[in-house]
Amino acid sequence: MPTSSQFEDESPNLIDGKYHFPKPPAMASMQIGTLSISSRYFLSPLAKYTNLSFRRVVRECGGLGLATCDLVNARALLAGSRKSLALVRTCEQDTPFAAQIFGGEPEYMRDAAQLLESMQGIDSIDINMGCPVDHVTNNGAGAKMMCTLKDTIKLVQTVVEAVSLPVTVKMRLGWDETDLAAPRFAREFEQVGIAAVAIHGRTRAQGFGGSVDLSGIRKVVEAVESIPVIGNGDIRSIPDAARMLKRTGCQGISIGRGALANPWIFRQLEQWERTGTYSPPGNFEERLRLLIRQYQYQAELDGPESALIAFRRTVHWYLKAMRVRPKLRDLVQHAKTEQEFYEAIHIIHTEGPLEGSRTGILPELQVPVPAGPVERW
Ligand SMILES: Cc1cc2nc3c(=O)[nH]c(=O)nc-3n(C[C@H](O)[C@H](O)[C@H](O)COP(=O)(O)O)c2cc1C
Repeated sequence: MPTSSQFEDESPNLIDGKYHFPKPPAMASMQIGTLSISSRYFLSPLAKYTNLSFRRVVRECGGLGLATCDLVNARALLAGSRKSLALVRTCEQDTPFAAQIFGGEPEYMRDAAQLLESMQGIDSIDINMGCPVDHVTNNGAGAKMMCTLKDTIKLVQTVVEAVSLPVTVKMRLGWDETDLAAPRFAREFEQVGIAAVAIHGRTRAQGFGGSVDLSGIRKVVEAVESIPVIGNGDIRSIPDAARMLKRTGCQGISIGRGALANPWIFRQLEQWERTGTYSPPGNFEERLRLLIRQYQYQAELDGPESALIAFRRTVHWYLKAMRVRPKLRDLVQHAKTEQEFYEAIHIIHTEGPLEGSRTGILPELQVPVPAGPVERW
Protein backbone atom coordinates (compact mmCIF):
# COMPACT_ATOMS: atom_id res chain seq x y z
CA MET A 1 0.00 0.00 0.00
CA PRO A 2 1.68 3.26 -1.04
CA THR A 3 1.73 6.09 1.50
CA SER A 4 -0.31 9.02 0.29
CA SER A 5 1.20 12.43 -0.12
CA GLN A 6 -0.51 15.74 -0.29
CA PHE A 7 2.27 17.11 -2.48
CA GLU A 8 3.44 14.62 -5.05
CA ASP A 9 1.49 12.71 -7.63
CA GLU A 10 4.24 10.14 -7.55
CA SER A 11 3.83 7.46 -4.92
CA PRO A 12 6.37 5.08 -3.48
CA ASN A 13 6.19 1.47 -4.68
CA LEU A 14 5.91 -1.23 -2.07
CA ILE A 15 8.00 -4.21 -3.17
CA ASP A 16 8.77 -7.15 -0.86
CA GLY A 17 7.95 -5.17 2.28
CA LYS A 18 10.02 -2.07 1.34
CA TYR A 19 8.98 1.21 -0.19
CA HIS A 20 10.95 2.44 -3.19
CA PHE A 21 11.15 6.13 -4.03
CA PRO A 22 13.87 8.04 -5.94
CA LYS A 23 16.40 9.29 -3.42
CA PRO A 24 17.55 12.91 -3.24
CA PRO A 25 20.92 14.06 -4.59
CA ALA A 26 23.75 13.58 -2.07
CA MET A 27 24.10 16.59 0.19
CA ALA A 28 26.87 17.93 2.38
CA SER A 29 26.72 16.89 6.04
CA MET A 30 24.78 19.12 8.36
CA GLN A 31 26.77 21.66 10.34
CA ILE A 32 25.10 24.08 12.72
CA GLY A 33 27.88 26.36 13.88
CA THR A 34 30.27 24.11 15.77
CA LEU A 35 27.73 21.29 15.92
CA SER A 36 28.02 18.46 13.39
CA ILE A 37 24.78 16.55 13.03
CA SER A 38 24.60 13.16 11.37
CA SER A 39 21.01 13.47 10.13
CA ARG A 40 19.39 16.44 8.37
CA TYR A 41 15.96 15.40 9.65
CA PHE A 42 14.93 17.26 12.79
CA LEU A 43 12.07 17.11 15.27
CA SER A 44 10.11 20.37 15.31
CA PRO A 45 8.96 21.61 18.71
CA LEU A 46 5.33 20.84 19.57
CA ALA A 47 4.36 22.39 22.91
CA LYS A 48 3.09 19.70 25.33
CA TYR A 49 4.34 16.85 23.12
CA THR A 50 8.05 17.11 22.43
CA ASN A 51 9.08 16.35 25.99
CA LEU A 52 12.05 14.21 26.99
CA SER A 53 10.15 10.91 26.99
CA PHE A 54 8.83 11.50 23.46
CA ARG A 55 12.22 12.62 22.16
CA ARG A 56 13.81 9.48 23.58
CA VAL A 57 11.44 7.06 21.89
CA VAL A 58 11.59 8.90 18.57
CA ARG A 59 15.39 8.72 18.76
CA GLU A 60 15.21 5.02 19.44
CA CYS A 61 13.16 4.59 16.26
CA GLY A 62 16.22 5.95 14.40
CA GLY A 63 17.27 8.62 11.93
CA LEU A 64 16.61 11.71 14.05
CA GLY A 65 19.06 14.62 13.96
CA LEU A 66 18.46 17.61 16.19
CA ALA A 67 15.44 17.58 18.52
CA THR A 68 14.08 20.76 20.11
CA CYS A 69 12.04 21.06 23.29
CA ASP A 70 8.76 22.96 23.57
CA LEU A 71 9.03 26.72 23.71
CA VAL A 72 10.19 27.95 27.13
CA ASN A 73 9.44 31.39 28.56
CA ALA A 74 12.87 33.00 29.13
CA ARG A 75 11.67 35.02 32.09
CA ALA A 76 9.96 32.09 33.79
CA LEU A 77 13.05 29.97 33.31
CA LEU A 78 15.19 32.60 34.99
CA ALA A 79 12.69 32.82 37.86
CA GLY A 80 13.25 29.09 38.40
CA SER A 81 9.75 28.01 37.33
CA ARG A 82 9.46 24.26 37.82
CA LYS A 83 7.42 23.91 34.65
CA SER A 84 10.06 25.70 32.59
CA LEU A 85 12.90 23.71 34.11
CA ALA A 86 11.01 20.49 33.37
CA LEU A 87 10.78 21.47 29.71
CA VAL A 88 14.55 21.67 29.32
CA ARG A 89 15.25 18.35 31.03
CA THR A 90 17.46 16.13 28.93
CA CYS A 91 19.68 13.05 29.27
CA GLU A 92 22.65 11.49 27.53
CA GLN A 93 20.46 9.56 25.07
CA ASP A 94 18.72 12.80 24.04
CA THR A 95 21.40 14.24 21.85
CA PRO A 96 21.85 16.51 19.94
CA PHE A 97 19.34 18.65 21.78
CA ALA A 98 18.26 22.28 21.30
CA ALA A 99 16.43 24.30 23.95
CA GLN A 100 13.96 26.81 22.53
CA ILE A 101 13.28 30.08 24.35
CA PHE A 102 10.88 32.93 23.73
CA GLY A 103 10.64 36.48 25.00
CA GLY A 104 10.70 40.04 23.74
CA GLU A 105 13.27 41.45 26.19
CA PRO A 106 16.94 41.10 25.16
CA GLU A 107 18.26 40.96 28.73
CA TYR A 108 16.01 38.09 29.76
CA MET A 109 16.72 36.23 26.55
CA ARG A 110 20.46 36.72 27.03
CA ASP A 111 20.39 35.56 30.64
CA ALA A 112 18.17 32.59 29.83
CA ALA A 113 20.56 31.54 27.07
CA GLN A 114 23.48 31.77 29.48
CA LEU A 115 21.61 29.74 32.06
CA LEU A 116 20.89 27.06 29.46
CA GLU A 117 24.52 27.04 28.42
CA SER A 118 25.53 26.35 32.00
CA MET A 119 23.30 23.26 32.11
CA GLN A 120 24.36 19.78 31.00
CA GLY A 121 23.36 18.35 27.65
CA ILE A 122 22.12 21.39 25.74
CA ASP A 123 23.80 21.62 22.34
CA SER A 124 22.20 24.72 20.90
CA ILE A 125 19.77 27.51 21.71
CA ASP A 126 16.79 28.19 19.48
CA ILE A 127 14.90 31.49 19.50
CA ASN A 128 11.17 31.20 18.85
CA MET A 129 9.92 33.70 16.29
CA GLY A 130 7.03 31.64 14.99
CA CYS A 131 4.55 31.22 17.82
CA PRO A 132 1.24 32.78 16.74
CA VAL A 133 -0.68 32.76 20.06
CA ASP A 134 -1.79 36.08 21.50
CA HIS A 135 -0.31 35.69 24.97
CA VAL A 136 3.12 35.30 23.36
CA THR A 137 2.81 37.85 20.55
CA ASN A 138 1.18 40.48 22.81
CA ASN A 139 4.43 40.64 24.71
CA GLY A 140 6.42 41.28 21.55
CA ALA A 141 7.66 37.69 21.39
CA GLY A 142 7.12 34.76 19.00
CA ALA A 143 5.92 35.75 15.53
CA LYS A 144 5.53 39.38 16.62
CA MET A 145 9.30 39.69 16.41
CA MET A 146 8.89 39.56 12.64
CA CYS A 147 7.29 43.02 12.80
CA THR A 148 10.28 44.81 14.32
CA LEU A 149 13.40 44.14 12.28
CA LYS A 150 15.85 46.43 14.09
CA ASP A 151 14.86 45.45 17.63
CA THR A 152 14.74 41.78 16.74
CA ILE A 153 18.20 41.80 15.19
CA LYS A 154 19.51 43.53 18.30
CA LEU A 155 17.92 40.94 20.56
CA VAL A 156 19.24 38.07 18.47
CA GLN A 157 22.73 39.58 18.38
CA THR A 158 22.67 40.03 22.16
CA VAL A 159 21.91 36.33 22.60
CA VAL A 160 24.50 35.19 20.03
CA GLU A 161 27.23 37.27 21.68
CA ALA A 162 26.37 36.06 25.18
CA VAL A 163 26.94 32.33 24.60
CA SER A 164 29.37 30.10 22.80
CA LEU A 165 26.71 27.52 21.89
CA PRO A 166 25.28 27.81 18.37
CA VAL A 167 22.13 29.96 18.32
CA THR A 168 19.38 29.29 15.77
CA VAL A 169 16.05 30.93 14.97
CA LYS A 170 12.72 29.36 14.09
CA MET A 171 10.40 31.71 12.26
CA ARG A 172 7.48 31.96 9.88
CA LEU A 173 7.38 33.59 6.44
CA GLY A 174 6.18 36.83 7.98
CA TRP A 175 3.39 38.33 10.06
CA ASP A 176 0.93 38.27 7.15
CA GLU A 177 1.03 38.14 3.37
CA THR A 178 1.56 41.90 3.09
CA ASP A 179 5.08 41.55 4.47
CA LEU A 180 6.89 38.29 3.80
CA ALA A 181 9.91 39.41 5.79
CA ALA A 182 11.63 36.07 6.39
CA PRO A 183 14.35 36.44 3.71
CA ARG A 184 15.29 39.87 5.05
CA PHE A 185 15.46 38.56 8.60
CA ALA A 186 17.44 35.50 7.57
CA ARG A 187 20.06 37.61 5.81
CA GLU A 188 20.46 39.86 8.83
CA PHE A 189 20.55 36.92 11.22
CA GLU A 190 23.41 35.37 9.30
CA GLN A 191 25.34 38.63 9.58
CA VAL A 192 25.01 38.65 13.39
CA GLY A 193 26.09 35.03 13.77
CA ILE A 194 22.95 32.91 13.76
CA ALA A 195 24.04 29.35 12.91
CA ALA A 196 20.87 28.11 11.15
CA VAL A 197 17.32 29.17 10.43
CA ALA A 198 14.25 26.95 10.52
CA ILE A 199 11.34 28.25 8.53
CA HIS A 200 7.70 27.20 8.81
CA GLY A 201 6.25 28.05 5.40
CA ARG A 202 3.21 29.92 6.68
CA THR A 203 2.57 33.46 7.91
CA ARG A 204 1.39 34.23 11.42
CA ALA A 205 -1.97 35.29 9.97
CA GLN A 206 -2.35 31.80 8.50
CA GLY A 207 -1.95 30.15 11.91
CA PHE A 208 -1.91 26.51 10.90
CA GLY A 209 -4.40 26.88 8.05
CA GLY A 210 -3.83 27.11 4.32
CA SER A 211 -0.93 25.42 2.68
CA VAL A 212 2.80 25.71 3.14
CA ASP A 213 4.42 28.07 0.64
CA LEU A 214 7.48 26.27 -0.65
CA SER A 215 8.50 29.18 -2.87
CA GLY A 216 8.53 31.37 0.27
CA ILE A 217 10.95 28.94 1.92
CA ARG A 218 13.06 28.96 -1.24
CA LYS A 219 13.41 32.75 -0.97
CA VAL A 220 14.88 32.30 2.52
CA VAL A 221 17.34 29.73 1.17
CA GLU A 222 18.36 32.18 -1.54
CA ALA A 223 18.72 35.05 0.93
CA VAL A 224 21.49 33.49 3.03
CA GLU A 225 25.09 32.90 2.05
CA SER A 226 26.06 29.73 3.83
CA ILE A 227 24.06 28.93 6.94
CA PRO A 228 21.70 25.94 6.70
CA VAL A 229 18.00 26.61 6.21
CA ILE A 230 15.66 23.98 7.64
CA GLY A 231 12.31 23.71 5.83
CA ASN A 232 9.23 22.98 7.89
CA GLY A 233 5.53 22.40 7.48
CA ASP A 234 3.16 19.57 6.58
CA ILE A 235 5.78 16.87 5.95
CA ARG A 236 4.08 13.55 6.56
CA SER A 237 5.74 11.24 4.11
CA ILE A 238 8.86 10.68 2.04
CA PRO A 239 7.31 12.26 -1.08
CA ASP A 240 6.47 15.35 1.01
CA ALA A 241 10.09 15.54 2.16
CA ALA A 242 11.38 14.98 -1.38
CA ARG A 243 9.29 17.83 -2.61
CA MET A 244 10.39 20.17 0.21
CA LEU A 245 14.07 19.47 -0.54
CA LYS A 246 13.65 19.79 -4.30
CA ARG A 247 11.44 22.86 -4.43
CA THR A 248 13.15 24.91 -1.74
CA GLY A 249 16.80 23.82 -1.87
CA CYS A 250 16.75 23.68 1.95
CA GLN A 251 19.51 21.69 3.65
CA GLY A 252 17.39 20.03 6.26
CA ILE A 253 13.81 19.37 7.23
CA SER A 254 12.01 19.55 10.52
CA ILE A 255 8.86 17.60 11.26
CA GLY A 256 6.33 18.05 14.04
CA ARG A 257 2.90 16.49 13.60
CA GLY A 258 4.22 13.93 11.14
CA ALA A 259 6.35 12.48 13.93
CA LEU A 260 3.34 12.16 16.24
CA ALA A 261 1.54 10.14 13.59
CA ASN A 262 4.65 8.17 12.69
CA PRO A 263 7.61 8.21 15.12
CA TRP A 264 9.56 6.14 12.55
CA ILE A 265 9.49 8.91 9.94
CA PHE A 266 13.09 9.96 10.64
CA ARG A 267 14.34 6.41 10.23
CA GLN A 268 12.43 6.19 6.95
CA LEU A 269 13.97 9.46 5.75
CA GLU A 270 17.47 8.39 6.65
CA GLN A 271 17.00 5.00 4.90
CA TRP A 272 15.50 6.68 1.85
CA GLU A 273 18.34 9.19 1.55
CA ARG A 274 20.92 6.40 1.76
CA THR A 275 19.28 3.71 -0.35
CA GLY A 276 16.17 4.99 -2.14
CA THR A 277 14.15 2.43 -0.16
CA TYR A 278 12.66 2.44 3.32
CA SER A 279 10.74 0.23 5.71
CA PRO A 280 7.14 0.79 6.70
CA PRO A 281 6.48 2.51 10.03
CA GLY A 282 5.96 0.41 13.16
CA ASN A 283 2.98 -1.93 13.22
CA PHE A 284 0.37 -2.29 15.97
CA GLU A 285 2.59 -4.44 18.19
CA GLU A 286 5.60 -2.14 17.77
CA ARG A 287 3.55 0.97 18.45
CA LEU A 288 2.17 -0.58 21.60
CA ARG A 289 5.70 -1.33 22.80
CA LEU A 290 6.77 2.22 22.00
CA LEU A 291 3.77 3.64 23.85
CA ILE A 292 4.64 1.62 26.96
CA ARG A 293 8.28 2.67 26.76
CA GLN A 294 7.37 6.34 26.51
CA TYR A 295 5.09 5.98 29.54
CA GLN A 296 7.91 4.29 31.46
CA TYR A 297 10.38 7.08 30.60
CA GLN A 298 7.81 9.64 31.74
CA ALA A 299 7.17 7.68 34.94
CA GLU A 300 10.92 7.61 35.70
CA LEU A 301 10.87 11.40 35.54
CA ASP A 302 7.61 12.27 37.26
CA GLY A 303 6.38 9.16 39.04
CA PRO A 304 3.74 6.76 37.67
CA GLU A 305 0.64 8.83 38.35
CA SER A 306 1.80 12.27 37.22
CA ALA A 307 3.23 10.56 34.14
CA LEU A 308 -0.26 9.41 33.18
CA ILE A 309 -1.45 13.01 33.09
CA ALA A 310 1.58 14.22 31.11
CA PHE A 311 1.17 11.34 28.66
CA ARG A 312 -2.56 11.82 27.94
CA ARG A 313 -2.17 14.09 24.92
CA THR A 314 0.45 11.97 23.22
CA VAL A 315 -1.15 8.62 23.96
CA HIS A 316 -4.24 9.84 22.13
CA TRP A 317 -2.25 9.93 18.87
CA TYR A 318 -0.58 6.58 19.52
CA LEU A 319 -3.94 4.92 20.02
CA LYS A 320 -5.54 6.63 17.03
CA ALA A 321 -2.65 5.55 14.82
CA MET A 322 -3.07 2.02 16.19
CA ARG A 323 -6.77 2.06 15.23
CA VAL A 324 -7.93 1.37 18.77
CA ARG A 325 -11.64 1.84 19.24
CA PRO A 326 -12.72 4.99 21.12
CA LYS A 327 -14.04 3.16 24.20
CA LEU A 328 -10.68 1.51 24.79
CA ARG A 329 -8.84 4.77 24.12
CA ASP A 330 -10.97 6.29 26.88
CA LEU A 331 -9.87 3.57 29.28
CA VAL A 332 -6.26 4.72 28.88
CA GLN A 333 -7.21 8.39 29.02
CA HIS A 334 -9.05 7.87 32.29
CA ALA A 335 -6.52 5.59 33.99
CA LYS A 336 -5.60 7.08 37.34
CA THR A 337 -3.08 4.52 38.50
CA GLU A 338 -0.33 2.56 36.85
CA GLN A 339 -2.36 -0.60 37.39
CA GLU A 340 -5.38 0.85 35.57
CA PHE A 341 -3.09 1.95 32.75
CA TYR A 342 -1.60 -1.51 32.28
CA GLU A 343 -5.02 -3.17 32.54
CA ALA A 344 -6.27 -0.93 29.72
CA ILE A 345 -3.16 -1.70 27.67
CA HIS A 346 -3.74 -5.42 28.21
CA ILE A 347 -7.30 -5.16 26.85
CA ILE A 348 -6.08 -3.13 23.85
CA HIS A 349 -3.39 -5.71 23.15
CA THR A 350 -5.89 -8.55 23.36
CA GLU A 351 -8.37 -6.84 21.02
CA GLY A 352 -5.90 -5.62 18.34
CA PRO A 353 -6.60 -2.90 15.74
CA LEU A 354 -10.06 -2.11 14.33
CA GLU A 355 -8.58 -1.90 10.81
CA GLY A 356 -5.50 -3.64 9.48
CA SER A 357 -3.62 -6.36 11.32
CA ARG A 358 -1.31 -6.55 14.35
CA THR A 359 1.81 -7.06 12.30
CA GLY A 360 0.93 -5.44 8.97
CA ILE A 361 1.00 -1.84 7.77
CA LEU A 362 -1.69 0.22 9.48
CA PRO A 363 -3.72 2.81 7.54
CA GLU A 364 -1.94 6.16 7.55
CA LEU A 365 -2.98 8.65 10.24
CA GLN A 366 -3.39 12.34 9.48
CA VAL A 367 -2.83 14.53 12.52
CA PRO A 368 -5.03 17.56 11.83
CA VAL A 369 -3.96 21.13 12.36
CA PRO A 370 -5.09 22.68 15.64
CA ALA A 371 -8.44 24.47 15.50
CA GLY A 372 -7.04 27.40 17.45
CA PRO A 373 -3.51 28.70 17.03
CA VAL A 374 -1.88 26.27 19.45
CA GLU A 375 -3.64 25.23 22.61
CA ARG A 376 -7.11 24.51 21.30
CA TRP A 377 -6.18 21.42 19.40
C1 LIG B 1 0.40 21.71 19.08
C2 LIG B 1 1.54 22.47 18.48
C3 LIG B 1 2.50 23.02 19.31
C4 LIG B 1 3.57 23.73 18.76
N1 LIG B 1 4.53 24.25 19.59
C5 LIG B 1 5.59 24.90 19.05
C6 LIG B 1 6.64 25.38 19.89
O1 LIG B 1 6.64 25.19 21.12
N2 LIG B 1 7.67 26.05 19.30
C7 LIG B 1 7.71 26.26 17.93
O2 LIG B 1 8.67 26.86 17.43
N3 LIG B 1 6.75 25.78 17.12
C8 LIG B 1 5.71 25.11 17.66
N4 LIG B 1 4.74 24.60 16.83
C9 LIG B 1 4.93 24.69 15.37
C10 LIG B 1 5.63 23.44 14.85
O3 LIG B 1 6.94 23.34 15.33
C11 LIG B 1 5.67 23.42 13.32
O4 LIG B 1 6.32 24.59 12.88
C12 LIG B 1 4.30 23.34 12.69
O5 LIG B 1 3.47 22.41 13.37
C13 LIG B 1 4.39 22.92 11.22
O6 LIG B 1 5.13 21.71 11.11
P1 LIG B 1 4.42 20.25 11.01
O7 LIG B 1 3.43 20.35 9.88
O8 LIG B 1 5.55 19.32 10.71
O9 LIG B 1 3.74 19.99 12.31
C14 LIG B 1 3.66 23.91 17.36
C15 LIG B 1 2.69 23.34 16.53
C16 LIG B 1 1.64 22.62 17.08
C17 LIG B 1 0.65 22.00 16.14
